[in-house]
Amino acid sequence: MTCSTAGTGALVLAAGKGTRMKSDHPKVLLPILDQPLLYYVLSALEPCRGTGRGKISSVSAVVGHKGEEVSAYLSGSWPSVIPLWQHEQLGTGHAVRIAREWWSGFDNLMVLPGDVPHLQSSTLEALLADHAGSGADCTFLSFSAADPRGYGRVVRSGPAVSIVEDRDATEEQKLISEVNSGIYIFTVSALRPFIDRLDNENAQGEYYLPDLVGLMVRDGRPVNSTIASREAEFRGVNTPEHLWSSGESIRREIVEGHLSRGVRMMDPSSVWIGPAVTIEPDVSIDPFVQIWGKTAIARGSHVGAFSILRNMTLSEGADVVSHAVLSDSRLERGSRAGPFIVLRDGAVLGEDALAGKFVEIKKSVLGKRSKAPHLTYLGDASVGEDTNIGAGTITCNYDGQRKNPTTIGNRCFIGSDTMLVAPVEIEDDAFTAAGSVISRTVPEGALGVARAHQKNIDGWSSRRQKRESKEQ
Ligand code: UD1
Ligand code: MG
Repeated sequence: MTCSTAGTGALVLAAGKGTRMKSDHPKVLLPILDQPLLYYVLSALEPCRGTGRGKISSVSAVVGHKGEEVSAYLSGSWPSVIPLWQHEQLGTGHAVRIAREWWSGFDNLMVLPGDVPHLQSSTLEALLADHAGSGADCTFLSFSAADPRGYGRVVRSGPAVSIVEDRDATEEQKLISEVNSGIYIFTVSALRPFIDRLDNENAQGEYYLPDLVGLMVRDGRPVNSTIASREAEFRGVNTPEHLWSSGESIRREIVEGHLSRGVRMMDPSSVWIGPAVTIEPDVSIDPFVQIWGKTAIARGSHVGAFSILRNMTLSEGADVVSHAVLSDSRLERGSRAGPFIVLRDGAVLGEDALAGKFVEIKKSVLGKRSKAPHLTYLGDASVGEDTNIGAGTITCNYDGQRKNPTTIGNRCFIGSDTMLVAPVEIEDDAFTAAGSVISRTVPEGALGVARAHQKNIDGWSSRRQKRESKEQ
């Protein structure tokens, strides 16, 4: 798959096992907040993409361990990222080698690990500019680590530079605090001959990509290194503790970002917001709230306590009262949901509509100013404007084989405890009597009554009492 487009390609290394996670899932797919680890590196690359000089024109990811799962994630969420297979994980140098056909058409190749979720786009942009301006064959990013254990050490002696892996370092080299971030840009014409010169004669028996630095310097090739100042940005995730601590610091950053843009929170420490969520100013969020996916919340909205929102759209002034589980649905301007409500699969509350206590709405529209204030299930239903749905109303939408639609018009009144046996239609201005089982159309303006007539048996209570006292 030779790419003929010149420019810079970015190769994300994501084939490793992540042994220390002790998980059956590939490390790069383990979640931080609601997104896989890999999402964060790919998101950091996103603003660097483009066609000009110093831009990334194409992104690939090397997959291997549980690669089917990683490829499936990429094709679903990042269709432009090309998965490249490394069937045997023989080291980071080997990972770059197997991708050769892909990168050999570019001018430059950026290589970065898939497990550094704090990485910032601005750092990558600066590295791209640095490499473009320096004319070097390789530019790599190093940083000074408070605890350098586990990292490759940057060994400098006069103009000579090399990177020695932790497990291969001498006691003296282990004291060096400047370490390799694992992020590099290579000039492809220089990389091509050097990539074949890597060997695996080291403590791990792997082909180490950082060995290229020493090889190039020894051959008199120009190698440039940038020493970054923010150590936390390059922290890799290798253990469940790292996953938690990275998640906690990303959670804080996201929450603080929203606060600084005018979102109010009573207790920010109990609020969880995913990285793809957008919230306008003047929104207020109560304690113990989770907001995930591509949720978008407009000005003046409120999200009440103990609510979980995923892929929701809230228009201006929408009110989620509390204890709501809402997904893939929409609250129009001024509408109100909850408490104790489930909205899912494309439910829509129209302007100023109300869906209240113990209500579930699935794939249904509740029109403008319509209300389902208590104890209702609406599935595959369309409800017009200014209609009232009484407590206990249920759309019986499933006949055991398929889901059937219910259509309710404008200005209707659905009496409490109405069973609407779908497919069925209630036309404009129609009523249903409480407790009815409605299975046929109720025409415009009519009252649909479908329940047994009441029969009163006079004196029944006293006769029962007498009967019971005789039996004792
Ligand atoms: C690597 C660097 C080290 C640097 C550190 C920064 C090497 C040999 N060492 O060490 O100098 O300080 O990153 O975090 O590169 N991977 C593959 N295929 C493989 C092996 C690894 O795709 O065959 C991927 C992993 O999934 C991971 C990345 O490459 O995303 C880094 O590999 P890892 O084994 O974690 O290297 P480190 O020990 O962290
Ligand atoms: Mg690592």
